[in-house]
Amino acid sequence: MVPNQSVFKDESKLDINYIPQKLPHREKEQRLLSEFFSFILRCPERMAQRVILTGDVGTGKTALAQHFGANITSEANKRRIKFRYVHVNCREFRGSLQTILHRAVMAFRPNYPARGYGAEEVLAALMQVLDEEEATMILALDEFDSLIEKEGSDAVYKLTRLQEMRQGKPQRLSFIFIMRNLDATAQLDESARSTLQRSIISLTRYGKPQLIDILSDRVALAFELGAVSEDVVDLVAELAYSETGNARFGIELLWRAGKYADAENAGVVEPECVRLAISSIVPSLRRSELASLGLHERLFLLAVARYFKENEEVYAALTEIEKTYAVLCEEYGETANSHTQLWNYAQYLTKLGVLRTEVASAETRGRTTRVSLPTIPAVELERQLSDSLTQNGRRD
Ligand SMILES: Nc1ncnc2c1ncn2[C@@H]1O[C@H](COP(=O)(O)OP(=O)(O)OP(=O)(O)O)[C@@H](O)[C@H]1O
Ligand SMILES: [Mg+2]
Repeated sequence: MVPNQSVFKDESKLDINYIPQKLPHREKEQRLLSEFFSFILRCPERMAQRVILTGDVGTGKTALAQHFGANITSEANKRRIKFRYVHVNCREFRGSLQTILHRAVMAFRPNYPARGYGAEEVLAALMQVLDEEEATMILALDEFDSLIEKEGSDAVYKLTRLQEMRQGKPQRLSFIFIMRNLDATAQLDESARSTLQRSIISLTRYGKPQLIDILSDRVALAFELGAVSEDVVDLVAELAYSETGNARFGIELLWRAGKYADAENAGVVEPECVRLAISSIVPSLRRSELASLGLHERLFLLAVARYFKENEEVYAALTEIEKTYAVLCEEYGETANSHTQLWNYAQYLTKLGVLRTEVASAETRGRTTRVSLPTIPAVELERQLSDSLTQNGRRD
């Protein structure tokens, strides 16, 4: 057998740890971070900064912080400024302040013992090392809420009041605190909270057009030319958008869809691959939902499944589905329902989350309704519906 070509050019570009060189739609936030920390390049040791970075899941907090960290490090290196950016995921260390600070010390002292010292001692050691090295550091504490949960106000207070306890000495340690939301800070006492909430950068959820830009960039890096059509990117963006604008979800979906395409030796990522990919993440049509559908709703849905099984398209005009539906009605000896009725079925199935519908303006015929089947593989849906239609006879 001739080995088929993979749809992937470089899968690693879809890896969760990959930090892209460009972060579309986060330019403003990147500028803000640079401004907040511009003193590090101009007059390090003169001041320290604390910034909170918040935003929902997959809005790019981690990517933004690491991207910024890499940039400022290379700028500092060019200017021969002694500087380190250290990014620690607090949850990975179960929120333990001592372990987290140990990571920071290791940036300069890789052999510093992991055990035997309390958090306060490790913090003192970190400051001492920074003094010895005459360096400054930005410590980014990702998923900071887990540190708050574990260690409470006391730890936050220690971190944030650090510089005040070192009056008259060079300022060496700045922070970026990263959290999905500020809920965790509610459990802090007033003084800890007020020292924390200085500068806040909030990342808003991505809209669909923004997700399209982000995903298109990633497609160009990870997939062979022509392996992923614009329509497929559109479909994935739509799905990521309905998952709270989560870019990670979209990227993972692209990767899984690519895997399905390769498994099928398809050569390109077809919409059906995306549906297979999402059905492996999200449960498909539940049996109870299927049971609640009337005969003509099932015939209509079966028409949708047949249409998408036979056509490699993301969207279908309702009038196209109607034709397939008419053929099916004949097969089952039923009189076809009106266009309006089908439109109602489409609306109902959209409410159930089985279909998506949108109104598009066609050039010649005014507005048309388009239907897509975002999450359930057409083959799977056809099988389920055919089974249920034979079992239940042909009664409505
Ligand atoms: N603007 C963007 N441009 C390119 N890629 C992005 C952008 N925003 C997010 N991503 C990518 O989306 C994925 C999720 O982003 P990231 O991990 O930064 O989210 P997060 O806000 O830290 O989420 P969580 O709260 O779950 O930790 C990553 O692979 C990241 O590279
Ligand atoms: Mg993150």
